[in-house]
Amino acid sequence: MSTPARHYPARHLDLAGMGHHPAPYAMPPNGERPAAGLRPTLHSAPPGSSPSAPAPAGDALADYRIAREPYYRQVSDELELFEAAYAVRMPVMIKGPTGCGKTRFIEHMAWRLGKPLVTVACHEDLTASDLVGRFLLDAQGTRWHDGPLALAARLGAICYLDEVVEARQDTTVVIHPLSDARRMLMLEKKGEVLHAHPDFQLVISYNPGYQSLLKDLKQSTKQRFAALDFDYPEHEVEVEIVAHESGVDRDTAAKLVHIGARARNLKGHGLVEGMSTRMLIHAGSLIARSVAPLTACRMALVRPLTDDADMRDVLDAAVSTYF
Ligand SMILES: Nc1ncnc2c1ncn2[C@@H]1O[C@H](COP(=O)(O)OP(=O)(O)OP(=O)(O)O)[C@@H](O)[C@H]1O
Ligand SMILES: [Mg+2]
Repeated sequence: MSTPARHYPARHLDLAGMGHHPAPYAMPPNGERPAAGLRPTLHSAPPGSSPSAPAPAGDALADYRIAREPYYRQVSDELELFEAAYAVRMPVMIKGPTGCGKTRFIEHMAWRLGKPLVTVACHEDLTASDLVGRFLLDAQGTRWHDGPLALAARLGAICYLDEVVEARQDTTVVIHPLSDARRMLMLEKKGEVLHAHPDFQLVISYNPGYQSLLKDLKQSTKQRFAALDFDYPEHEVEVEIVAHESGVDRDTAAKLVHIGARARNLKGHGLVEGMSTRMLIHAGSLIARSVAPLTACRMALVRPLTDDADMRDVLDAAVSTYF
């Protein structure tokens, strides 16, 4: 098996800027996993794990390994379901509104399964070559460089195509042979049929709220995936997440979650999208840095969500009820 380049030259650097990136917690692998059921902590070594060992020499996926456990609070049975899907390498689609925990979940699952995570933020200019790879000229001459999808398939990572529906349909079809029983990728320009590594899994995310008829996945794409529906967590769970992630106390977190619930009721009645868990964490983080709660909520919750003056008044009033 040939070793693909790890650093993407010129054109690939563009892609890196647009979201093809290693996992945020990427560090050399430590090869250890905590015992099931231990409480996760953010940005610290997983309980029971040994200090990180250096990546094996020549580990092309070293940048994509997740050494520290990304904090993830289970909401339902999604951990078990994902593990069952991974066990048979079933492609998985994660659906849900913005800021509800899709990316965090897949980061956590990659860590839990001990697999590297290659993430691609999809956009409408993404070409099949951006995913698969291309020949590039360097000092040694013309050399093939695997794209992120080929890299993950060749070396056995989880490949996460974020907001896949943003990519054009002619780009999306390259994942078809990889996401059915064939598990292979055609590198047409290179004249290679790449058979996916046994550890490889394909995961895509999408926000069903944003779909139009023109921008939707083809049925032939959708039907290759199992789907997990994500949504904002129920009250107690969301309070726990907001408190943990922002550093505010539970009381403050609970107030923020109440405000979130009020705003979510306005979806479809003047608001296009609900107030995400991410936004509540932003507000909490400002409060934790001594910003006055009213100001923090206006800045992190109300102003980003809408420009409509009446709707802002309604949301400001909801904020004043709690702070
Ligand atoms: N169940 C959860 N456990 C831990 N943190 C969570 C959970 N759900 C949401 N979060 C927090 O909310 C933030 C936003 O979540 P995330 O980035 O995963 O959203 P997303 O669904 O991928 O959104 P988008 O569709 O915009 O990419 C995370 O950074 C994390 O702090
Ligand atoms: Mg995301």
